[in-house]
Amino acid sequence: MRPAARPMHTDDIAQVLEIERESFPTMWPPTAYKRELEQNRLAHYLVTVERNDKSAADWAVHGAYGHGAEHPGAIGRLFGELRHLLGNEGDEAPLQPLEERVELITGVIGVWLLADEAHIVTIAVRESHRRQGIAELLLIRAIELAQAKEQQLVTLECRVSNAPALALYDKYGFGKVGLRQRYYSDNHEDAYVLSLNPVRSRRFKEHFEALKAEHEQRWGPFDIEG
Ligand SMILES: CC(C)(COP(=O)(O)OP(=O)(O)OC[C@H]1O[C@@H](n2cnc3c(N)ncnc32)[C@H](O)[C@@H]1OP(=O)(O)O)[C@@H](O)C(=O)NCCC(=O)NCCS
Repeated sequence: MRPAARPMHTDDIAQVLEIERESFPTMWPPTAYKRELEQNRLAHYLVTVERNDKSAADWAVHGAYGHGAEHPGAIGRLFGELRHLLGNEGDEAPLQPLEERVELITGVIGVWLLADEAHIVTIAVRESHRRQGIAELLLIRAIELAQAKEQQLVTLECRVSNAPALALYDKYGFGKVGLRQRYYSDNHEDAYVLSLNPVRSRRFKEHFEALKAEHEQRWGPFDIEG
């Protein structure tokens, strides 16, 4: 089945936290995705997914959807609600093995739509799915969102040592517009401030359309949902 990109839902939080943990192992606290999805009106989160037909058939019989198939029962539900109240996102039922999930989330991007700027707050791809054009697809969707919402720029911060991410942003034309010294609390590494502007100019649009066509030719189409 073709991979797809769609808006992130609260059901996706556990899998997205799994990607966040492997992508940003020193990050603490983890992103408060529930609050981001339900309360932050500026925030837009997208995920890429792979659907597994065999697991979907099992799901029809057993009711499994990424999480363990066991029905929690009254006490389980009570604990679940308590954990929810205490805010331990993603600390719910254990996740199923990757190959048994009906929907495997492979990547995530978070964008805050500020006054005239779309700010990318996170982008990460599951380690097992890297170098398959997934981050590029997520970035394309984020830039399209910025264009649709009539934003002028797309901005983000990136560790100065993060060569793979810097190569991705360079490919799409982001420029270094600043340096935040000792920005990251784990090792006090500096961050580049990167900006892509103006995203609605004819020149950028032409370059962007060429990159999108090249991406589709190389990786095939993704189903775009929502
Ligand atoms: C950075 C990251 C998101 C890239 O995801 P990905 O899905 O593997 O990237 P893609 O396959 O879409 O690659 C697109 C472009 O990114 C660059 N790139 C990605 N991985 C790279 C690598 N390991 N080395 C060099 N360039 C790389 C290339 O320019 C590539 O284009 P190309 O295929 O034409 O060379 C991924 O490595 C990741 O999740 N890292 C951990 C989290 C992170 O650092 N996020 C960025 C925070 S600012």
